[in-house]
Amino acid sequence: MSRSGKPAVVAHRGASGEMAEHTLGAYELALRQGSDGLECDVRLTADHELVCIHDRTIDRTSDGSGIVSEMTLAQLREHDFGSWHSGTQASVLTLRELLTLTLDWHRPVRLFIETKHPVRYGSLVETALLEMLHEFGVATPPSADHSRAVVISFSSAGVWRIRRSAPILPTILLGDTARIIGGTAATAVGATGVGPSVETLRLHPELVDRAAAAGRVTYCWTVDEKPDVQLCADLGVRWVATNHPARVRDWLVTV
Ligand code: G3P
Ligand code: CA
Repeated sequence: MSRSGKPAVVAHRGASGEMAEHTLGAYELALRQGSDGLECDVRLTADHELVCIHDRTIDRTSDGSGIVSEMTLAQLREHDFGSWHSGTQASVLTLRELLTLTLDWHRPVRLFIETKHPVRYGSLVETALLEMLHEFGVATPPSADHSRAVVISFSSAGVWRIRRSAPILPTILLGDTARIIGGTAATAVGATGVGPSVETLRLHPELVDRAAAAGRVTYCWTVDEKPDVQLCADLGVRWVATNHPARVRDWLVTV
């Protein structure tokens, strides 16, 4: 899905620089702008629905307040998740709705699903996620390279649980620790990729080659500045996650 060896562009929380993050409109815009992949964060509601929300609470990204894991989907639907950013109202987005949008799009697009880990739920997030990926027929791809879904997480335990239950599904271990930079954390859990922040990549560019030598791809976030896009292209980063996919795609034409 990448173009001529250049990094492929992942829309971080949708085209979230232009529209409210994690809304249907932000993802539709990212797709229309030609993004190769979409990134989302998922959390479980009190009634065990997977919703696309980054924070533990809805306070920053909606007109309401409350803890996601203590609210039902019906309660979340009472709130507006769009106006705070762009003045356009939007409902909370479920993972089911985002998977449907992604898989129905007229060209292949990859969905990078980040599991957030409310302590009270333990492995329930991964269990619910795998059930849904099975339901959509994307939990057992023919190969990691042909997968339409990638599970990403800062949690080694979370990645390991996915690998154990769905060994072909690609996974990316996110983070900036020495064990991520050195590759030992990814090896320990069998992740197919590593996901450093762009700040860490600037300090440790060698991690890309180290990951490649171990057969792993590098996914870098959040790449919104032109020099960082150039750096990622020069190093052979496979995926760049950005809040501005249209801008990054334009820059990639000339790097
Ligand atoms: O894509 C990875 C990146 O999203 C991790 O950080 O806090 O934005 O979820 P965060
Ligand atoms: Ca994320």
